[in-house]
Amino acid sequence: MLPVRLDRADPRPLGTQLADQVRRLVLDGALARGDRMPPTRRLAAELGVSRSVVEQAFDQLLAEGWLEARQGSGTWVAGGAAGRRAVPVRRRTPARERDLVLLDAGTPWVDPRHQAVWRRAWREVSTATPPRGYDDPRGLPELRTLLAERLGRTRGLAVDADRVRLTGGTSAGLRHLLAVLPREPDDAVALEDPGYRAAAATVREAGRAVRDLPALEPVTDLAGCAAAYVTPAHQHPLGRVMPAADRLTLLASARRDGALVVEDDYDSEFRYDVAPVPALASLDREQVAYLGTASKAILPSLRLGWTVVPDRLLDAFDAHRALTHDAPPWPVQRALVTLLRDGYVDAVVRSARRVYAERAPRVVAALAPHAELAGPVAGMYSTWLLPQARAVRVRAAAERAGFRVNLLRDYCRTARLDGLVVGFGGPTDDQLERALDVLVDALSRR
Ligand SMILES: Cc1ncc(COP(=O)(O)O)c(C=O)c1O
Repeated sequence: MLPVRLDRADPRPLGTQLADQVRRLVLDGALARGDRMPPTRRLAAELGVSRSVVEQAFDQLLAEGWLEARQGSGTWVAGGAAGRRAVPVRRRTPARERDLVLLDAGTPWVDPRHQAVWRRAWREVSTATPPRGYDDPRGLPELRTLLAERLGRTRGLAVDADRVRLTGGTSAGLRHLLAVLPREPDDAVALEDPGYRAAAATVREAGRAVRDLPALEPVTDLAGCAAAYVTPAHQHPLGRVMPAADRLTLLASARRDGALVVEDDYDSEFRYDVAPVPALASLDREQVAYLGTASKAILPSLRLGWTVVPDRLLDAFDAHRALTHDAPPWPVQRALVTLLRDGYVDAVVRSARRVYAERAPRVVAALAPHAELAGPVAGMYSTWLLPQARAVRVRAAAERAGFRVNLLRDYCRTARLDGLVVGFGGPTDDQLERALDVLVDALSRR
């Protein structure tokens, strides 16, 4: 049997994968000039693909001169060295990076029954006429109206559609805000620690210094800060809801010190204990810029987010985006119009919430006897405190078994908190069950 392995998750066509791997076998000497290739029908059956996939690969290799067809006697290796080297043994472990099942904070559960809705959305996109030039940098008007309505209904945030801007996601929204915030020479941006790594990277890329805000303490001082970036509905990654008193303290500090508060409201609709806590921006729409994303409620691959911009920054925000042509692609915006208009987003949030609400207690029941929960479980992940050496050991054991969990240390800058962040949105039910067995087993070993 040929030592090849086709991967349906690989974006390359199966025939291309097969041709690439046969070429590599010839180059490595595992297939030598004069070797006979298996018949296409048999190879197709062994690989579990249609015969045309194998024929396509063989045709390509014949055209390139790696193989030759001999009348009536099949296909032979023509290129490469005479004489074979040892066939490389297929590696079984460690699992290849992309084979790992992600138990991360960012991969949502997606209901496979929703495929028809997606097809409808893309069909509508395909029959609509795209704008001829650069489109309105603010985003599609009907989409901004639908999002404004949804923000009022689900996040207690009464906004005019005229203040909603479509972006390429949370970090893009932050980047645009940073581009238009007044800049003093020593201005920093305050970020929760531990906190969202992409936000820290975005701030640094914008050439601004990062000031660490201990994630669970009230923010009383923002002197010298242009902005403070926070996740009040679900502190990332410790899980806490920012208490009302801390919200007021933060807003008072921001007003006094002239800092913009940037609210990252990434997964607030997924709560299982209480109703979603209203957005911080609903308390002060001039001091707080609000960042929403399609990444949790719908899909991260859409690369779509929305920013509610304070009035005083709107003109500069729009001018910057018009100048840089930095707006999300029209087809994606157009598809989201269909999804919102037809109630898909509400339905998907409802069904995902049901799944997470069932999974969260399963994760807690399995892991709580072995580690300390860092905060309430919401969204699609839980965070556990453990000594670093143990966390590293458990992470390695999970990886050997094909699962990826993150170390809490990786979210810390100056904070010293150790443990694991265990997501439960990405895996199937069976994968989650197995992952929990693996984690419990590793945690039980002292
Ligand atoms: C804290 C936080 N904010 C926002 C996001 C979403 O970012 P984006 O909208 O760029 O996909 C994530 C995704 O993992 C996140 O963890």
